[in-house]
Amino acid sequence: MLTTSPRGTQDILPGQSYKFQYVEDTFRDLCRRFGYQEIRTPVFEHTELFQRGVGEATDIVQKEMYTFSDRSNRSLTLKAEGTAPAARAFVEHNMQALTQPIKLFYITPVFRYERPQAGRYRQHEQCGVELFGTLSPQGDAEVIILADSFYRQLGLSHYELFINSVGCPTCRATHGEALRQALGEVLTDLCTDCRARYDRNPMRILDCKNERCQELTVNAPTVRAHLCPECEGHYAQVKQTLSDSSISYKENPRLVRGLDYYTHTAFEFISTGIGAQSAIGGGGRYNGLIETVGGQPTPGVGFGLGVERILLAIEMEGVKIPEPQPLDVFVAALGATASQAGFSLVQKLRRAGLSAEKDLLDRSLKAQLKFAGKLNAKRVIILGEDELTRGIAAVKDMASGEQQEIALADLEQALRK
Ligand code: HAM
Repeated sequence: MLTTSPRGTQDILPGQSYKFQYVEDTFRDLCRRFGYQEIRTPVFEHTELFQRGVGEATDIVQKEMYTFSDRSNRSLTLKAEGTAPAARAFVEHNMQALTQPIKLFYITPVFRYERPQAGRYRQHEQCGVELFGTLSPQGDAEVIILADSFYRQLGLSHYELFINSVGCPTCRATHGEALRQALGEVLTDLCTDCRARYDRNPMRILDCKNERCQELTVNAPTVRAHLCPECEGHYAQVKQTLSDSSISYKENPRLVRGLDYYTHTAFEFISTGIGAQSAIGGGGRYNGLIETVGGQPTPGVGFGLGVERILLAIEMEGVKIPEPQPLDVFVAALGATASQAGFSLVQKLRRAGLSAEKDLLDRSLKAQLKFAGKLNAKRVIILGEDELTRGIAAVKDMASGEQQEIALADLEQALRK
């Protein structure tokens, strides 16, 4: 037990971590271009934030939170998603007093007690954005376009965007009534979760993964059919803006998402070919959330994208992630004095901005050269007593095999070329 990580978690070793870094760097760069600035919220929050923000009736709050009491008996919960914490920070730091809109991005671990399988973990990483303070359908379109640009930039193309409108509290109330009426007769045949949803949030019955529930609700009314004119208008404009921006999408009237805060637009990106856990990202508008967590009414829209699933999609599509930069120079030293001089030289080269390494295990020259090959060094500097007295070093270019003598004083400059 001591030598295995907890179920559903994984160690990201150097052979993988550069891939995470690549995805994160791509996301950071794109957020910069779209004008989003980074927010870092704590890894744990007051449990109530998720209960109120995400919703008591959701699977996340009912079954998946990592909740614990601290030594002062406060109930805390590991970050179960990124939106409620960002909304809490918006209120706490009085961001409504700043020039709107507020555009935030985050790269964060998320913790959910789910049954682990390929693409589903108990700790996963999300790249997300939250755009606060605008009701404009262009806001919805902007975040969708950002997510789409991100996947494209990573080289992905085997995915689809599904969108829907889940309406506002007004249309949701009419829809809820219609749904209760339509499902009243089959209520006892629905799963326990859906029976609970029937009273608390009937719309979420449409999202049930249970096959029997899906069969029973196949003809159930969708929110789409009950949208009020304002929601209908907003949805039409979002679709128009996406089409004008050449973003392909499919409408899915049953897409309601698993978090209670959504209003109006809901969307999901589905990868075709990474198995059952195919949602590589999802999001939507949440115009009531800031108020729910104690702020002035402020609209919001955003998304969260699962980095592990994106990496699975990258692998499945055969996209190549650039390998880490090779080592600029390896200093191979012969003898104790040269080893000390080599150690100083490595520090000097590193200070000059080059990546430099030397042997730390007293290897033979032959073994040092083999090690340099393993490290994929572009050049090897060979330093012996003789070279030291002459004030030079033998520099070998590993690609061409060419070797030349360079004065120690000129090394830095020569290596920069
Ligand atoms: P979510 O759909 O729960 O939304 O999660 C977003 C994405 O995180 C999913 O589409 C999936 O790629 C990834 N994901 C979720 N759970 C797991 C898991 N157990 N293992 C691996 N990956 C997972 C949210 O969390 C919302 N906060 C998104 C949002 C932001 N909506 C508005 N703003």
